[in-house]
Order: sequence, then structure tokens, then C-alpha cells
Amino acid sequence: MNNKIIKGFSKLSRIEKLRYLGEISGKGEQIEEDLDYFRLNDLEQQNLLDEISENTLSNFFLPFGIAPNFVINQEVYHIPMVTEESSVIAAASRSAKFWAERGGFHARVLSMEKTGQVHFLWKGKSDRLKKAFPELKRELMCATHSLTTNMRRRGGGIHDLSLIDMSHEMENYHQLHVSFETLDAMGANFINSCLELMAKTLETFISNQTEWTDEERDCEIVMSILSNYTPDCLVECWVECDVKDFDGVHEGMSGEVFADKFLKATQIAELDVYRACTHNKGILNGVDAVVLGTGNDFRAVEANAHVWASQTGKYKSLTKASISNNRFRYELKLPLALGTVGGLTKLHPLAKLGLELLGDPSAKVLMMITAAAGLANNFGAIRSLVTTGIQHGHMKMHLSNLLNAFNANKAEKLMAKTRFAETTVSYSEVENFLNSLRNTK
Ligand code: MEV
Repeated sequence: MNNKIIKGFSKLSRIEKLRYLGEISGKGEQIEEDLDYFRLNDLEQQNLLDEISENTLSNFFLPFGIAPNFVINQEVYHIPMVTEESSVIAAASRSAKFWAERGGFHARVLSMEKTGQVHFLWKGKSDRLKKAFPELKRELMCATHSLTTNMRRRGGGIHDLSLIDMSHEMENYHQLHVSFETLDAMGANFINSCLELMAKTLETFISNQTEWTDEERDCEIVMSILSNYTPDCLVECWVECDVKDFDGVHEGMSGEVFADKFLKATQIAELDVYRACTHNKGILNGVDAVVLGTGNDFRAVEANAHVWASQTGKYKSLTKASISNNRFRYELKLPLALGTVGGLTKLHPLAKLGLELLGDPSAKVLMMITAAAGLANNFGAIRSLVTTGIQHGHMKMHLSNLLNAFNANKAEKLMAKTRFAETTVSYSEVENFLNSLRNTK
């Protein structure tokens, strides 16, 4: 590679960018062919995708699949999921089937509030700002009135606004802490626009206080931004059944033993941070796949979930299991800020389709569906971990990837699938198997 700093890359045409990359990578014109291969023939659709981000050269495909037969609050959903991990959709589908036969998933949205902050520095006696705050609050609300009109008309808008003195943490540091209801929109742009307008209004308000000293009439806005931590935009999802309903879940294991082992596994995820991280990753396997498949922001969802998991000061699992009177209950509670309008939801053709397949749900319903997918994936993982071990199912799903990595042909794939039907798949076993097939030719 012959990389050096390039100025104005974004200003180059696509062809110029490709030429440049071809040159420095040594791939020459081949790079154009490679990247063109994954572009759509439909130019209108391709342009739409190109314009989503800067310097787009091609499309990066991930599997878009369906985990069927999720019963959630007595409704059936076939859930679109986008993931690169072979076993995620299989695990979700298996758990969906399992729980559909045991009453399905139950879910409810507990709250829908999002938060934004204006972080600013103000030198002065805290009481002075506090005293002026009711008037400041009126002005801030007034200033954002036209921005929030549409949202208010539909029942959302700014819920509340408070002033927080943080000067004990950092010299002169204060916050405007604003809570929003953004209904079916994830609302990031709406929130950030409101906050930036509030910041300007705050500056003007402070500079207009003729009674205050020069120093007090000055304030420095550090930044205005929504918080991706939404502990008040919360969804809860749970499954429950009699312990004896687990009979037969694994050969040679009673329902009682299974439930007890399951409980122990979840307790370990509560007390041990190494395990908690992997346990939560298994939940996010399902959550992220739905979030991606519906055009939502998976980085925001991830960051949110991990802060929530640390809310007690120690990182813990997001689920809780209990057994009471021989009744097993397993629940997931997590903050999820999702949208079903705005952003990419209707712009990305497959996100739009994903939402259509879910019956164009409200944000609340999407929160419940996403939580159910997370709980299903996690249940599937723990079920395997405490019975067969994870590799059995995981590597079976991964077999196709391994066969493709070894360039196996159709006949070899068929033989490999028979050979590994009952045994655990491993990289070296597959390699040996293909070598022996190829050597006997
Ligand atoms: C793999 O993607 C996810 C698991 O590791 C989750 C878990 O251990 O609970 C199987």
C-alpha cells in the first residue's frame, strides 16, 4: 500500500476516487469492477443509497432474513433481522417457536421520554440563575414553539426543562436538562435542533440581564446534544411457563434441572462482569439485528443498553430469571430509543420493507418486538449453554461459511452436510474432511 494524506477526497468524482484507490492499492481498474458488482442496476435506488453517506462507492451487503412465528402479546410477527452472525436468526426462530407453544412473549412499554442537554459554563452565584430560571424557562419554551408545533399537534414535544448546577463537578459547569416525547420518531434531529435553539436563547437571556455583573452576563455554551442514554424510554419483555413445561427440552434432563441450571447461568451473568458482557452481547445479537433491519441506529441502542446495564455502578446482565411456585419467569428490561418514521426508516428500501412486514408498527410496538427478539436470542443461547454447549448449533450454522471459505463445490457441500449432521463442526475437521475427499479423487 502506498498511502499518503489526500486532500479533498470528497470533492473527487466517483470515478476519480476509484482511480485513486486503484492506484494506491495496486488493484488498478479491478477495484472498479469489484465495487460495481455490488451496485444496483436501478440507478434511482442506487443514487438514494449513495446519498445516505459521504464518499459512497458501493453497497455492503449483509443477510436480511426473517425470524418467523414470534407471538408477542398474542399477535404473531415474522421479524426481519439483519445480521452477519450465522446462528442469530436460527436461534431467534427456535426460541420463538418454543415460546409460541408456551404463551408467547409478553411486553409493555414503561415510558417514552428522551433527554437532551445544553452544557454551559456560567460564572456567578448559583441562586441568581436559579431565581431567573422560571422566566428563562418560559423564554426557552417560547423560542422552540414553532419547531415543536408539529410534534405538539401529535401529542409530543418538550415535556420538561430543568436547570442543573454541576459546578461542584467542574468549575462553572451548568446544564439545561430537557426531556422530550418524540412519539414514533427516534427524534435525534428534532431534539438537537431544539437544543441548539435553546442554547442561543440562553446566551441572549443571560446577556440581557442588566442587573447582573458583566461576568454574570456572560455564558459559554460548550455543547448542545441529545443523550443516547434513555432510562425513561423503557421496554420490558418477559416469558413464563411452569417448570414442568421444560420437560423434554433436552434429552435426559428434567424440566426442573433445566430451569435450575438456567437460573444459575443468569445469576452468574448478574455477578460476574466477564459473563455479563457476553450474556448481554447475546441479547444484543437479536436487538441489533431488528434495529438494523428497520433502519434504526444500532450504535445508539448499544451505548444505551450498556449504560443501563451499569446503572448500579457495576455492569450486570440485562435479564432476570426467577422461579416461584414452580413457575419460571424470564424478563428483559432495557431502554430502547427507536423510530418508525424519519431517519432511514422509510428511505432505505429494505428498512421500509422490514417495517411493512411488521405491519408498519408504532415506535412503541417496535420497541416490544425488538425486546422480544433480544430475549429470544438470549434464551436460545442460555438454553444451548446449559445443555448441548454453544458450539454444536453455532458451528452447524457456520458450516456453510467454512465450506465457502474452502471453495467447496456443490457435491462437497452436500457430503459435508451429511458428514457433520450429528457431530460438532470445527475448522480443522472440515478442512481435513475436504482434503480427504479431494485426495481420493
Ligand atoms: C454469541 O454471538 C453469543 C453468545 O456468546 C451469548 C452468550 O454466551 O450468552 C452465545
